[in-house]
Amino acid sequence: MSTNPKDWWRQAVVYQVYPRSYADHDGDGTGDLPGITSRVPYLRRLGVDAVWLSPFYPSALADGGYDVDDHRDVDPRIGTLDQFDELVAALHGAGIKLIVDIVPNHSSDRHVWFRQALAAGPGSPERERYVFRRGGGADGELPPSDWTAAFGGPAWEPVGDGDWYLHLFAPEQPDWNWDHPDVRADHLRTLEFWADRGVDGFRIDVANALTKDLTEPLPTKAELAGLLDGSHPLFDRDEVHEVYAQWRELFDRYDPPRTAVAEAWVPAHRRARYASPEGLGQAFNFDLLKADFDAAAFREVVTDNLRFATEAGSSSTWVLSNHDVVRHASRYALPPGTDENAWLLSEGKDPAPDTAGGLRRARAATAFILALPGSTYLYQGEELGLAEVADLSPATLQDPTWRRSGGEQKGRDGCRVPIPWTATGPSYGFGPGGAHLPQPAWFADVAVDRQDGVEGSTLEFYRQALAARRRLQTTEDLTWVPSPEGVVTFTRPGGWTVLTNFSAADVELPAGRVVLCSGPLRGNLVPQDTTVWLEDEPA
Ligand code: NOJ
Repeated sequence: MSTNPKDWWRQAVVYQVYPRSYADHDGDGTGDLPGITSRVPYLRRLGVDAVWLSPFYPSALADGGYDVDDHRDVDPRIGTLDQFDELVAALHGAGIKLIVDIVPNHSSDRHVWFRQALAAGPGSPERERYVFRRGGGADGELPPSDWTAAFGGPAWEPVGDGDWYLHLFAPEQPDWNWDHPDVRADHLRTLEFWADRGVDGFRIDVANALTKDLTEPLPTKAELAGLLDGSHPLFDRDEVHEVYAQWRELFDRYDPPRTAVAEAWVPAHRRARYASPEGLGQAFNFDLLKADFDAAAFREVVTDNLRFATEAGSSSTWVLSNHDVVRHASRYALPPGTDENAWLLSEGKDPAPDTAGGLRRARAATAFILALPGSTYLYQGEELGLAEVADLSPATLQDPTWRRSGGEQKGRDGCRVPIPWTATGPSYGFGPGGAHLPQPAWFADVAVDRQDGVEGSTLEFYRQALAARRRLQTTEDLTWVPSPEGVVTFTRPGGWTVLTNFSAADVELPAGRVVLCSGPLRGNLVPQDTTVWLEDEPA
C-alpha cells in the first residue's frame, strides 16, 4: 500500500451517508448533521476510511437534495455551517476523511441566479447562465426539441414568456450553461469553500453532463439515440475535461491534494479521462452493480476495470449499492434478469424474493469486492444486510421519478428509508420522533443493537472484514488462480487468498488460515454463495 498520505483514497473504504436518512438528532423526522456526528464512534468501530455525504445543502427536496439552492450553505433542517465544522472535526478526530457531493450540472429552481433569470426576461444576460431557448410554434408554445428528462416527461419547461429552459432531470433542476464564465467561477468558489473547511474530497454528480453543444437545429430524440461516443450534444463531451483540468489545479493547491470521484455513467472505455490524474482522479465503476451474481461476469468486470484504472493512472472503484439503486441484498434475492421496477411496483411480491439467499449472496459479493485492489464504496445500512423497502405505498413516495413517470417507475425511496439503530423506539432509534419515510416492522430484527456483538451478524461480518482488509491490504496487485467452473480465486500480495464460490457444488478450501467467511463453512468445504479470505500460515 502506498504510504504517501496523498494516496489515501486509492484503496479506501468510503461509506456513503444519505444525510436525511441517517440519524435525526432534533426529532423532526429528517436526519441531520448533529445526528451524523453522534454516530462517528459507530463509523470508527465499523472501520471505514472516509464518509461521503450526499447533499446537505438548502433544497426544496424536489430530488432528494440534488436540487441545490445554495451550494455554500447547509439546509436549516439538516444543520448549520458550525455543525458542519463540528462533524468535520469529529470525523478527522476519528481518523476518517470526508467527501462531499458536488452537483454541477444543475442548480435548483430556487437558486438566486435562476430567480434572477426568470425575473430578467428573454434575451437578458441573467438567462445566459442557464440554458434558455425560444419555443417553437407561433407563440413559442412548443418545446425547442422533443427530448425527455431522466425522471420522465419533457426535458424543457416553459416559463410563460416564450422561453423554455432545459432540465435533464426534474423541472426543479435547471441545467447550468457551462459556456458561461460565471458558472465556471462560481463552482471554483464552491470547491474552494468546502476544501478550506477541511473537506478531503468531492463526489461529482453526473460528471459526464455539464458542457453541451446546443447548436441549432437541435437533433431529435431519435437522432440522439444513434450518436457515437463523444458526439452526443448533452453527455460525455470532450470539453468537460477542460472543466476538470481547472478543478484539478485547485485540488492540487491543497496538501494533501483534494480528491474527486466522478459519477459518470459512461461506457467503461470512456471512463479513463474522468479518472485521470489531470482530471478528477477517480471514477465510479458501476459494472459489478449491473452484473449478475455470476463467476464469469464478476471475473470479467474485475479484469477489465483493473486494466482501465491502470490505463487511467488511477485505482478502480467497486460499488454494489448506493442511494439510486435497489439494495444489493434484494437484487441478489431475485432471479437474474428480473425487471426491478416491475418488482417494486408489485410491492416486492412478484417474484417472491429469496431473502436468505439474497443476503448470503450480498455478503459473498461484499467480501469479494472488499478484497479487490482499489476503493470500495459502501452505502449506509448495507452493513446491516438491509433489504430494499419494496412495499412503500404510493402516497409516501418522495422520488420525482414516481410522479414524473406517471406512476410507471416506482423510484428510489426504498433504499432511502431511515436506517434502524435500535429494535424499539418511535423510529427504531433513527431519532426521538418519526421518520420521513415509513420504516417496516422487520427493521426491528436487523437494527444495529440487535446485531452489535452478535457473532455471525452482518454488522460483525462487516467490522471483521474492514479490520482484516486494513491489515492485509498492500499493493494494488491481483493474481488469478485457476479454479473449478463457477468459482473465482485470486491472491493479493502478502499471502492473502480470496475464493468465492458462485456454483452449486461445494469447493475445497485453499491452503491457509481462514481470516474471514461471508457465511458458514462446511468443514473444509466452501458452500455455494460464500466468499472466504485466507492468509498464508507462517512458514
Ligand atoms: C445522480 C444522483 O446520484 C441522483 O440521486 C440524482 O437524482 C441525479 N444525479 C441528479 O442530480
